[in-house]
Amino acid sequence: MMFQDLCEKMPWIESGDIRPYVFVRPENAIQNPGARHKTDWFPHAPILKNPLDIKEIHFADRIYAIEEKAFGPSNMAMPRWVFYDCAVMPGFVAGFAARAGALKASIKNVLDPKNLKATGSPVGQTPHLTNLHSLDDMDWVPLSLFIIIPTMHKGEWVAHNLCSVNSLLDKEDQFYGLGFMSKAFGLWYANVEQCSGMTQWGSPALKLHSHYGWLEVIGAYAPVHSHRQTVTYRAQVHTDSWKNFFTKELDLPFLENFGRTEQEIDPQNEASMLKLQQMIENDKGPFYLSAHEIAQNPLNQKLSIYQPKRQLNS
Ligand SMILES: CC(C)(COP(=O)(O)OP(=O)(O)OC[C@H]1O[C@@H](n2cnc3c(N)ncnc32)[C@H](O)[C@@H]1OP(=O)(O)O)[C@@H](O)C(=O)NCCC(=O)NCCS
Repeated sequence: MMFQDLCEKMPWIESGDIRPYVFVRPENAIQNPGARHKTDWFPHAPILKNPLDIKEIHFADRIYAIEEKAFGPSNMAMPRWVFYDCAVMPGFVAGFAARAGALKASIKNVLDPKNLKATGSPVGQTPHLTNLHSLDDMDWVPLSLFIIIPTMHKGEWVAHNLCSVNSLLDKEDQFYGLGFMSKAFGLWYANVEQCSGMTQWGSPALKLHSHYGWLEVIGAYAPVHSHRQTVTYRAQVHTDSWKNFFTKELDLPFLENFGRTEQEIDPQNEASMLKLQQMIENDKGPFYLSAHEIAQNPLNQKLSIYQPKRQLNS
C-alpha cells in the first residue's frame, strides 16, 4: 500500500498540515532515520523539537494534557518525572502534530485549555494542565504520543506509551488511523528491529499493536504491574503486514506459519491469563495472537492462542 492509497483512508495525512514530530534530545538522535524499514508512508519532513529546550515547554505541556486526559480514567496518567526520567532522557518520543491554524473550530474547542481539564489525576498528584498555552500562541500542536525506550537487549525497544487525541474527539472530528500511524512512524523512524510492550487484555490498543509484526505473548499475567491483567508482548517489526490494519485482509504468511491451539484468553476471566502465564513459565511457548482475529472481534471476546505449526505437529 503506497502513500497515495493511505491518503484515501486518511485524508488528514496528505497536506502536511498534520505531520510527524520527533521530540528527542540531540544526544539520542537516530542515525539514518527510516533506513531499516522500506516504506513511503512518511513523505513529510517531521517537526524536530528538543525537549530540553525551555521554549518547547508548551509543546510538552500539551503532550501531557492529551496523555493525562486519555489515561486519567484508567489511573495510568504519566507523572511528569516519568516522562522526563524514563522517556526524554533515555528514549525516543514522537507522534503527529497539527499546524494550530489548520484545525477545525470544534477540535480547537476540545483542545482549548479550559476544556482540557484533568479528569482523573491519581490521588495526590498535581494536574499537568495549569500552564497550558492557548492554541493561538502555538505553531504546532501535538495530537498523539508514542514513546519507545531502548533496552539492554540489542535491537529491542520497549513501547512505553501510546495515545491519541481521537479518544477525546467526537467521531466526525477524529483522525482515523492517528494512533496506528504514530506507532508506525516511531518504529520506522527509529529503525526498530524488535519491539516489546505492555497493554491490558481487552484494550483497543491491541488492535493496533498486533499489526506491526507477529505478536508473541511473552507474559499473559503481570502481578508486578499496577494492572495485573496485562499482556506483555514482543514483535519483530515487519512493514509487510502494516497495510492489513486498513484493508482488514487475512495475513496469509501468519496462517501458513501458525496454527490455533486449544488455549484461549478471555479478557473477562483472569484464570485464562494465569493458565497461559504458567504455560509460558513452563517453556511450553512460544504463543502468538492473530492480528486479523483481534481486528474482527469485539474487545471483550475470547482470543485464540496460536503456535508455530512445527511445534503443534511435534
Ligand atoms: C488506543 C488508542 C491509542 C487508539 O488510537 P486511535 O487514534 O483512537 O486509533 P486509530 O484511529 O489509530 O485506530 C482505529 C481503530 O482502532 C479501533 N479503536 C480505537 N479506539 C477504540 C475503542 N475505544 N474501542 C474499540 N475500538 C477502538 C477503531 O475501531 C479502529 O478500528 P477499525 O479500523 O476496525 O475501525 C487511543 O484510543 C487512546 O489514546 N486511548 C487511551 C489510551 C490508551 O489506552 N492507550 C493504549 C495503551 S497501550
